[in-house]
Amino acid sequence: MAVSCRKMRVLGVMMMVNFFIFILVEVSRIAGQGKGASGKLRVPTKPFWKRPVASEAYWNREQQKLDHLHNPILASANGSGPELPDWLNDTVRGESCEPDLAVTTRVKDYNSLPDRFKDFLLYMRCRTYRMAVDQPHVCRDRPYLLLAVKSLSPHFDRRQAIRESWGRAGRLANRTVATVFLLGNATAADHFPDLSEMLRYEAAMHRDILQWDYRDSFFNLTIKEVLFLDWVHLRCPGASFVFKGDDDVFVNTRRILDFLQGLSPGKARDLFVGDVITHAGPHRDKKLKYFIPESLFVGPYPPYAGGGGFLYSGDLALRLQAVSHKVALYPIDDVYTGMCLKKLGLVPRGTRASGPSTSRRSTGTIPAPTRA
Ligand SMILES: *[C@@H]1O[C@H](CO)[C@@H](O)[C@H](O)[C@H]1NC(C)=O
Ligand SMILES: *[C@@H]1O[C@H](CO)[C@@H](O)[C@H](O)[C@H]1NC(C)=O
Ligand SMILES: *[C@@H]1O[C@H](CO)[C@@H](O)[C@H](O)[C@H]1NC(C)=O
Ligand SMILES: *[C@@H]1O[C@H](CO)[C@@H](O)[C@H](O)[C@H]1NC(C)=O
Ligand SMILES: *[C@@H]1O[C@H](CO)[C@@H](O)[C@H](O)[C@H]1NC(C)=O
Repeated sequence: MAVSCRKMRVLGVMMMVNFFIFILVEVSRIAGQGKGASGKLRVPTKPFWKRPVASEAYWNREQQKLDHLHNPILASANGSGPELPDWLNDTVRGESCEPDLAVTTRVKDYNSLPDRFKDFLLYMRCRTYRMAVDQPHVCRDRPYLLLAVKSLSPHFDRRQAIRESWGRAGRLANRTVATVFLLGNATAADHFPDLSEMLRYEAAMHRDILQWDYRDSFFNLTIKEVLFLDWVHLRCPGASFVFKGDDDVFVNTRRILDFLQGLSPGKARDLFVGDVITHAGPHRDKKLKYFIPESLFVGPYPPYAGGGGFLYSGDLALRLQAVSHKVALYPIDDVYTGMCLKKLGLVPRGTRASGPSTSRRSTGTIPAPTRA
């Protein structure tokens, strides 16, 4: 009885509030009519929308173009897809692996940029490289967990240590684990010795080497990322989960499997966990490894997973593969993956947020990788 009495009172108060709002709206409408009593329409003198302007920063402008070209509303209005508007005035050029000499004038301070930026900019539109070593059958037994390790040709010892420890392929906790190492081409131009024969032997022996014919440099790690996603799409679309990490981390694979075991199917589909960095942005100090000039990129970074690696679902890998073609290449691969996630409307989740943890990279709900 007391409950229903309270309900009635709440209902009464609600009705009163409604009534007052109604009166207020009425009064202000009447007042508004009073002001515009002359009957004139108020025509805004300036545009009330924001006029789109092309960004000064090269990456941002490339992204504006991609956003425009992939805009679903514009695309459906026209069978052939939208053309670029005047404010983005530029000749449309899609993917191309010829050096893009236009950047030398488009990027204001191109000539004063460090060489790695020049190299990056010249080949920013290139996403297809010949595969020199493939493993078409790695995923024949549909892996539950695919371990993908970014490595460099000379790191034979690290790869072997991983094979003998956390990256052992086969059955673990009654699950199928497959392992691949991701390599580019380490050439004499970058002062690497010619190890191609040894690599060939290693690939034949272990059948876990993937190599593409592009220069394996820090700024080309994003290439490694997109080529790997393309490879998953082609060769390993059935993998349930993917862990992508560096070759200098240690991962507790069994704990990853335990963690995955406990996930609900809904959570598993969108899974992306790692050591998440939020509220970051480009460093403007030229001396830093992660320096990015203002002529290349402006704005904040989306949340992204840095550190030694991240774990995500195979389903998400395929969605990342599709969306990566709509995101301009960015020289820092972790940030690039964050940009792709943002495009998918997802936010990576930190390992530390999900469980009590004190040390920076150790415990948590899943084992975060630790640098060796
Ligand atoms: C639609 O196509 C026509 C002719 O093909 C073209 O002139 C027009 O600019 C296109 N519209 C958009 C929004 O791209
Ligand atoms: C783009 O600008 C150039 C000159 O800067 C001009 O010749 C060209 O017509 C412009 N293109 C469009 C589509 O406005
Ligand atoms: C790597 O670069 C070297 C030297 O530039 C070249 O001879 C070789 O064909 C390239 N590709 C691979 C897969 O090693
Ligand atoms: C191993 O997995 C298979 C199916 O994936 C299941 O039938 C079997 O019972 C599992 N064995 C153990 C010991 O959990
Ligand atoms: C990335 O790889 C391509 C192909 O080997 C090369 O031309 C380019 O210079 C590399 N970029 C960087 C930043 O090293």
